[in-house]
Amino acid sequence: MGDFKMNSVTCKAPVNIAVIKYWGKRDTKLILPLNSSVSFTLCTEHLCATTTAAVSPTFKQDQIWLNGEKIENLRLTACLKEIRRRARKRKSVSDNDTDDNIPLEMLNWNVHICSKNNFPTAAGLASSAAGYACLAYCLAKLFKVEGNISDIARLGSGSASRSIFGGAVQWDMGWDSSGSDSIARQLYPHTHWPELKVVILVVSDQQKKVSSFSGMQGSVETSELLQYRIKHCVASRLDAVVNAIGNKDFETFAVNTMKESNQFHAVCLDTYPPISYLNDTSHTIQNLVHSFNKYHQCAKVAYTFDAGPNATLYMLEESVDLFINIVQHYFPPSSSTIGEPFVRGLPVNLIDNIDENLLNLKSIPTTPGAIKYIINTAVGSGPEVVMDPNESLLGEDGLPKEYKESSQH
Ligand code: DP6
Repeated sequence: MGDFKMNSVTCKAPVNIAVIKYWGKRDTKLILPLNSSVSFTLCTEHLCATTTAAVSPTFKQDQIWLNGEKIENLRLTACLKEIRRRARKRKSVSDNDTDDNIPLEMLNWNVHICSKNNFPTAAGLASSAAGYACLAYCLAKLFKVEGNISDIARLGSGSASRSIFGGAVQWDMGWDSSGSDSIARQLYPHTHWPELKVVILVVSDQQKKVSSFSGMQGSVETSELLQYRIKHCVASRLDAVVNAIGNKDFETFAVNTMKESNQFHAVCLDTYPPISYLNDTSHTIQNLVHSFNKYHQCAKVAYTFDAGPNATLYMLEESVDLFINIVQHYFPPSSSTIGEPFVRGLPVNLIDNIDENLLNLKSIPTTPGAIKYIINTAVGSGPEVVMDPNESLLGEDGLPKEYKESSQH
C-alpha cells in the first residue's frame, strides 16, 4: 500500500427541471418509474450540489455529511453498493499501487462523503436530483467506473438520473424488472438551443410538506387520473415536447410544458388525501404567464411547477428582460429581504418603457415579498470534476472542513 493514505475527488452537479414529469413508481426499491420523463439540466454555476468523496484504509465506517450535518441514508448505501459492485465487475480498479492507479483493496475501504447545495434543500428546487447525481458522478470518478451511471444516480432519487447529462435529457422508463434499461440519455447538448433560458421564481425556500417519494406513492395508490394519464397522455405529450425541442418550436414546447405541469398538479389533487404543492402566489404566477402570452398573442413564457410552490419558467432570451421587469413590478421584494440580491444569476436589464397594459393587469394583485428571489439562469452542460483542491469539502484528515470549524466553537 506504500504511503497511500487517502484518495479523494470533488465534483459539482446541476439541478434539472422536468418538462415531462416523473410521478409514480412501479418499483419503489429500485426506483423504476411508471413513465418516461424529459428535462433540461440547468447551469451548474447558479444551482448545484458539490460533493467530495474520499476513500482511505483509516476510515472506520462509511460516513456522509450533508450541508454540515452527519446523516444516515439507505439510498446512499444503495448507490455506494452498486458503484463498488460495478468497479469490481469491470475490474476498473487496478491492483498495481502506482501514482495513477489505486489499489484493488480500496473497494473494501470505507468512504467519507461530504455534500452541500448552493440553494435550499428539499424546497421543490430539485435538490435531491443534484445531490444524488453529484454523489454517483463523484463515486464513479473515485472508483474509476465508466459508462452510463445514470441508473446509479437513480437509486438515490429518480430525477437524479437526468442530472448526469447536460442539455435536454430523457429518462427512459425501461421495461426490465432489474431496472437495467431504466436509464437517462442526452437528447440534445446544451448548445442545441442556446436562446432557451430559464427563470426560477423562488416563492418559498422552506422544506416541502409532502416529499416527492410519499406524494407519488399516494398518487399511485389512489389517483385514477394518474392511471389515465399514464395510459393515454404522457407518451404522446413526450413525443410532442421532444419534437418541439428538436425543431426549436417554442410555441409547441411551451403549451405542452404548461399542460403537463397542470396535469401533474391535477393528479396531486386527485390523490386521496389530496396534495397541494401550489399556493396562491404560484396561481398568480400562472395567471401572469397566461396574461403575458395573451398580450403577445402567442406563447412567450412557459411555467412548470414541481413538488413545491416555486415556478420554473422557460422562455427565449428575447423575453427575459421584459418578463423579469414585470415580475418585479407585481412582486417587489419585501422590506425584510431588501439588501440581499433579488435577482440572482445572469444579469437583467432595466426596461423603462413597458406598455401600461402589461403593468395594470386586473387579475394580478401587487404582492410585495410573495417572491423571495429570482434566479436568472440557462441550460447547462452537466456535472464536472472540480480540480482546485481548495474546493474540497473534506480536509486532509478526511473530515468535513466546515463541520470541523463549527464544532470547534
Ligand atoms: C415532481 O426524483 O424527488 O420533481 O425518486 O422518490 O426521490 P424520488 O422522487 P424525485 O421526484 C421528482 C418529482 C418531480 C418531477 C420530476 O422531476 O420529473
